[in-house]
Amino acid sequence: MDHEVVRDRFAGTDVLLTGAGSGIGRATALRLVDEGADVFAVDANERGLAATVAAASGPGRVVLHVADVSDEAAVVAAVRGAVSALDKLDGLDFGYYARIRSPLGPAQPEQIAATIAFAASHDASYLTGVDLRVDRGSHI
Ligand SMILES: NC(=O)c1ccc[n+]([C@@H]2O[C@H](COP(=O)([O-])OP(=O)(O)OC[C@H]3O[C@@H](n4cnc5c(N)ncnc54)[C@H](O)[C@@H]3O)[C@@H](O)[C@H]2O)c1
Repeated sequence: MDHEVVRDRFAGTDVLLTGAGSGIGRATALRLVDEGADVFAVDANERGLAATVAAASGPGRVVLHVADVSDEAAVVAAVRGAVSALDKLDGLDFGYYARIRSPLGPAQPEQIAATIAFAASHDASYLTGVDLRVDRGSHI
């Protein structure tokens, strides 16, 4: 499914993203990279991360990092690795909750990634304390 990319929306932005080797995490990594971010992609599954790197076309870049984020020391090492690889960090994503209950069919990872990209962008800078539902209107 194609989504309109907001060109350069994340140019100069450095992000650490977990679960980036599959599903919503991969779709979010690819979306942010498409929009200019450099992504430090963390996952326990090295093959999944390699597939994410292979699918990324830029203009941002993906740096892969294999780690189990249930291990506190591994998380500290990942953050240090991200700062070292990217020079700075503008955003951290250590997981998110997706509630997708739609009679119209399940949301695709790319649809959730589009919402995450909006919520992480300056366009959402005055957005506070809300749940964003990605359910095609089944909860109104
Ligand atoms: N409620 C719903 O309807 C619904 C729908 C979709 C997804 N979700 C939730 O959203 C989340 C992501 O879903 P998804 O479809 O992208 O899942 P996915 O299985 O495709 O991807 C999860 C990724 O996290 C990685 N991972 C798991 N444990 C890890 C750990 N300890 N350290 C590092 N990496 C680890 C896996 O290797 C995998 O690459 C899940 O928690 C899922 O339950 C909920």
